[in-house]
Amino acid sequence: MFQPRKAPVHPMLQELYKKIEERMKKVKYKIAVMSGKGGVGKTTVSANLAFALAMRNYKVGLLDADIYGPDIPIALGIKEKFPMVMNGAVIPFKAHLGVRAMSIQFLLEEDDTPVIWRGPLVTKAIQQFLSDVAWGELDYLIVDLPPGTGDEALTVMQYIPKLTGVVIVVTPQKIAIHDAKKAVKMAQMIGVPVIGIIENMRGFRCLHCGKITYIFGQGGGEQAAKELNIPFLGALPLDPRIVSLTDEGKPFITNTEEDISKKFMQIVNNLLKVIASLEGSKNSEKEGKEDK
Ligand SMILES: Nc1ncnc2c1ncn2[C@@H]1O[C@H](COP(=O)(O)OP(=O)(O)OP(=O)(O)O)[C@@H](O)[C@H]1O
Ligand SMILES: [Mg+2]
Ligand SMILES: [Zn+2]
Repeated sequence: MFQPRKAPVHPMLQELYKKIEERMKKVKYKIAVMSGKGGVGKTTVSANLAFALAMRNYKVGLLDADIYGPDIPIALGIKEKFPMVMNGAVIPFKAHLGVRAMSIQFLLEEDDTPVIWRGPLVTKAIQQFLSDVAWGELDYLIVDLPPGTGDEALTVMQYIPKLTGVVIVVTPQKIAIHDAKKAVKMAQMIGVPVIGIIENMRGFRCLHCGKITYIFGQGGGEQAAKELNIPFLGALPLDPRIVSLTDEGKPFITNTEEDISKKFMQIVNNLLKVIASLEGSKNSEKEGKEDK
């Protein structure tokens, strides 16, 4: 049976592991989106990644693992609340393109109700999102994390069996890269593959004269990827339409002709290539073992 990485195993937890394992067995790839610093675009990347995959006819789920700052419902434009419970399992809401979503926000009385919990409750909430949500058969489960290397990231890395890997979102400036390296190191210490780095908010094209200003600098994410020897998946510019579309609950990727959408699709292509190569290396490892 699957056991969370490096977590102490207690008999009372066996039941929980079993439930999570049952659910996650039906999900082919599980990808967590993390960062060191806050506000760099994790939720934006998660929502657009989920939609990009759904546009390619994959079955996709999106788990909002940000318990204190759940933004997925806004980014996906889901206004419903209090999901149905059937046979003891919570039914996720469906956004456009059939993307299934779950967030603590769906369970809060009012939009501005804060979650004021200590760490153990956060861990428990995420465990329940894994064990008690009827995700069904999925090709991809995307997990949107809060910034940093705290309880949420640790729980996701330890409790999702065979987590495919983490995607790290950074902005180009030193202070964001400094924090992101810790997220990369955390994944490596726990033994979760790092799929790669996305550099967000690289440069802003002036709407008046077309000149690009690198507000947060440029290339920081690419440089960090080189230093850390992990894949660089690509960069996205700063674009005010990303802000307004996210606020409206319309992931920008659905406007396929836009420049930013083309850039993001290229990032998704790179990400899929890395995942395929991770799969390949896993298979060849297995074959290698069988040969012996
Ligand atoms: N490339 C971009 N250009 C312009 N605005 C962007 C871009 N990427 C994200 N944003 C905007 O920046 C804000 C923060 O993005 P987002 O919420 O995705 O970050 P986050 O990393 O999830 O934040 P948190 O750490 O709070 O979870 C949002 O208003 C979003 O619309
Ligand atoms: Mg977020
Ligand atoms: Zn200008």
